Amino acid sequence: MFDSLSAQPADKILALMAAYRADPRDSKVDLGVGVYKDASGNTPVMRAVKEAERRILADQSSKAYTGLAGDPAFSDAMIDLVLADSVQRNRVAAIATPGGTGAIRQALELIRMAAPKATIWLSNPTWPNHPSIIKYLGMKMGEYRYFDENTRKVDFDGMMEDLKAVPQGDVVLLHGCCHNPTGANLTTAQMEQVIALLKERDVTPFVDIAYQGFGDGLEEDSVATRAIAGAFDNALIAASCSKNFGIYRERTGILMAITKDTDQAGITQQNLNFLNRQNYSFPPDHGARVVTTILTDPDLRQDWEAELEETRNGMLALRQQLADELKRLTNSEDFNFIAEHRGMFSRLGISTEAVESIRENDGIYMVGDSRINIAGLNKNTVPLLAKAIIRATS
Ligand code: LMR
Repeated sequence: MFDSLSAQPADKILALMAAYRADPRDSKVDLGVGVYKDASGNTPVMRAVKEAERRILADQSSKAYTGLAGDPAFSDAMIDLVLADSVQRNRVAAIATPGGTGAIRQALELIRMAAPKATIWLSNPTWPNHPSIIKYLGMKMGEYRYFDENTRKVDFDGMMEDLKAVPQGDVVLLHGCCHNPTGANLTTAQMEQVIALLKERDVTPFVDIAYQGFGDGLEEDSVATRAIAGAFDNALIAASCSKNFGIYRERTGILMAITKDTDQAGITQQNLNFLNRQNYSFPPDHGARVVTTILTDPDLRQDWEAELEETRNGMLALRQQLADELKRLTNSEDFNFIAEHRGMFSRLGISTEAVESIRENDGIYMVGDSRINIAGLNKNTVPLLAKAIIRATS
């Protein structure tokens, strides 16, 4: 029967990861997949995570199933972290999911059940797995302008113009913070305009927030998501714990559905539970338990927040160093946008040929659209990248 299968297109981020691993050069630098690395290139287990795991190992007396939605304490802790008091708790239905990708997948399946004809509108560009999953599910998608390739900032006028044409009943996917792949983000005032427009057009927002705490801070990075949760009767929010807790392989995420009242929350919750049951029954528990342990213990939480701040500030310093180095080499402010972008990524806006030449000549790996993972750099590799960019683009 497998004779009928055809080859699948490779995911460009994962293909790059494999190419990097296969490169024998000691001097190679990985700026590809969105995984945090410290100055020595390691992806550390965060201190609070280690301690939470120690406690779980010592205290856990059962591995029996939790609930279909996962442990309610995880949902409560995450709703508090992401949404705070922007919406009444009894209007939020939620399920634990395998990572942020699981949350996105379940959100799309819920949309397909509730509004099978809806088109999902994506920023151009967006994380490549967004269109890939939508296509796989046989759903309709469209694009709105987002990134200005010349300024490397948000093309806000283009975005608003395109969103004005989104038909009533459709869904617009927004990045809650730290836009992936560009690093260019809306200001709070711009997000308010987007919210007003989507409300006026009766369009449902779907927020993907995978990097809370990597941009301007835990609270600051949740402003847009909270504004959306507070403004709409219905919204979907997919949150990942992979990056801000550094628990990538534990697959820990949550899908939150904002509903108009408690009755709708109850029905929506049943549908979310149903979707978990159909796709994998009970969601993974270990990462969720680690997150809950950290968020509900004041000392662990403080330590986690402190380490997350160190991580965030480290990335900001690398951004600044790279922008300064490029300013020095070009004698221009053309690359200042790198210091203004936020999150793990920046799209440099250089050609695919330049990206490939940097990979071949300098062993520096970035995604073909010139997205770099800032956290893949360190003080010593920043000057190498800056020099390579100049060489490949002049
Ligand atoms: C990325 O964009 O690199 C991350 O979200 C990892 C992934 O799964 O693609």
